[in-house]
Amino acid sequence: MTELDVHLDDADLARALRADVATGLAADLKWLPPKWFYDARGSELFEQITRLPEYYPTRTERAILVGRAADIARITDAKVLVELGSGSSEKTRLLLDALLGHGTLGAFVPLDVSVAALRDAVARLAVEYPDLAVHGIVGDLTRHLWAVPRVGGRLVAFLGGTIGNLVPAERAAFLSALRTVLDEGEWLLLGADLVKDPAVLVPAYDDAAGVTADFNRNVLRVVNRELGADFDVDAYEHVALWDPDHEWIEMRLRATRPMAVRIADLDLDVNFAAGEELRTEVSAKFRPAGLADELATAGFETRHWWTDPDARFGVTLARAT
Ligand SMILES: C[S@@+](CC[C@H](N)C(=O)[O-])C[C@H]1O[C@@H](n2cnc3c(N)ncnc32)[C@H](O)[C@@H]1O
Repeated sequence: MTELDVHLDDADLARALRADVATGLAADLKWLPPKWFYDARGSELFEQITRLPEYYPTRTERAILVGRAADIARITDAKVLVELGSGSSEKTRLLLDALLGHGTLGAFVPLDVSVAALRDAVARLAVEYPDLAVHGIVGDLTRHLWAVPRVGGRLVAFLGGTIGNLVPAERAAFLSALRTVLDEGEWLLLGADLVKDPAVLVPAYDDAAGVTADFNRNVLRVVNRELGADFDVDAYEHVALWDPDHEWIEMRLRATRPMAVRIADLDLDVNFAAGEELRTEVSAKFRPAGLADELATAGFETRHWWTDPDARFGVTLARAT
């Protein structure tokens, strides 16, 4: 039994994209939020990234979940599994299997901004888990948490290190908004990428095969298609760099020559100087104590912290207090 609840229809998406493009491209240091990577092509490119040898987060988080899914089921007794930024929900099957085996799970609620990814994931889950109620929500996790059904016994999974795409102020706002839609005693399972040697970090965002570069440029294709813009997509170089002060990776697109871009639907002309960069993603890396502090400030108590032998990635199980 599956259903899809759409809180971001085409008109909402277009409005939000217009606002972000108008703000981000008018800034002195141009930027766009990473959620716009994920049309059907962007979501498929992200799936390819998860299988790249350089991209350690997915396989590392998966290994942690393989080892801990049964513990998570036993500790949380979750009746409903909510997943934010769910994408393909690939690793989430480990949690679904453990919770179904434990005998408590009645429903799965994946939420994602990408209607293409969510539709596909929900269709596959319906085949694989015919007896599970799957209620997909097309929405923005920074705006539509209120749409998550208010039933008791929820475990909210936020995997893949996507929390790092929010800058600290956005993270604080998101975590406290999440806390307000949860009741005391409900759970958050949070996957976070950890601070480590840039020699490991940077290649994860700049792979030899160029898949991440293609993913990065996809945001320009989205703006071209949705807002009638004329970005010369191939004239932007992919840049991934480690910012040691903020402890985050930045992905940028660097103009290889001066360019005047017309964004027809906004009646906007944007100029790029040669070498000028557009920031397309921040991916913050965490330290365990800092993350526990951020969670505590929002009203979550860290009960369990699991990592891999190389301390590359961390999974926190925190309880709403
Ligand atoms: C880095 S991928 C992670 C996917 C999956 N959770 C995993 O662990 O492999 C980020 C996912 O979050 C979604 N996403 C990004 N920003 C979002 C937002 N503001 N609201 C809802 N979903 C978002 C994307 O569409 C994508 O599916």
